Amino acid sequence: MSTPILQIQNLNSGYGQLQVLRDISFDVTPGEILAVIGANGAGKSTLFRTISGLIVPMSGNIWFDGINITGYDSARIVSRGLSHAPEGRRVFNGMTVEENLKIGAFRRADKSRASISAGLEQAYTYLPKLRDRRNQLAGTLSGGEQQMCAIGRALMADPRVLVIDELSLGLAPIIVEELLYTLENIQEGGCTIILVEQDISIALSFSDRAVVLQSGQVVMTAPSPELLSNPEIIKFYLGG
Ligand SMILES: Nc1ncnc2c1ncn2[C@@H]1O[C@H](COP(=O)(O)OP(=O)(O)OP(=O)(O)O)[C@@H](O)[C@H]1O
Ligand SMILES: [Mg+2]
Repeated sequence: MSTPILQIQNLNSGYGQLQVLRDISFDVTPGEILAVIGANGAGKSTLFRTISGLIVPMSGNIWFDGINITGYDSARIVSRGLSHAPEGRRVFNGMTVEENLKIGAFRRADKSRASISAGLEQAYTYLPKLRDRRNQLAGTLSGGEQQMCAIGRALMADPRVLVIDELSLGLAPIIVEELLYTLENIQEGGCTIILVEQDISIALSFSDRAVVLQSGQVVMTAPSPELLSNPEIIKFYLGG
């Protein structure tokens, strides 16, 4: 098995005195699509925020590509190649699609004009609808298009790992399918993907492997097809 691109070791994290994540450990293999699943409040977004550097963990370590990034701020983590699209999309409403994408380029290692143009071209190739709407204000985009914009912005940092929190939330199935197709292309382009997802059937049918969170703890890590074919386990841990 290849060296993990991301390693989470005995991670404890939360908000102030409130501990949410307890002793979380798992590895992410380069090139895989890993799903992090769990019921509402299981701690998925807290895990996402801790990995992204938005929350400093109480203890434990996060290794990215051989470097201990624990305690790095979010900008530094993105610059190293771990990019994220947060829950709720958070596009800049008053800016155009292209301006949103260009903001993502601030964390690109190579900030030359040629490199940023290449990044834009790549984002538009993966997300052709954004090209058509490049001059539209992001706040006027549909939910699905905003998600595309958030993914495009994360891609502009030229990541090796892309973490997405709640890809499918509030979106019609046909839009989710389109987004998953895009993610597959991004993965085939060499990017590792971590999908933090509340919709278990979407997450499991799309990913190679899944980490199951329950009350802030990892209760299971297994190949996704194995979990899909075992509804008892899903019911037991996720109540669905
Ligand atoms: N900013 C915050 N301050 C204090 N507690 C928080 C904060 N954000 C989340 N929590 C708490 O942390 C726990 C885990 O929340 P988290 O958002 O990580 O869950 P989640 O698995 O992402 O849920 P969902 O599926 O609803 O997105 C919850 O009990 C929540 O109330
Ligand atoms: Mg969440």
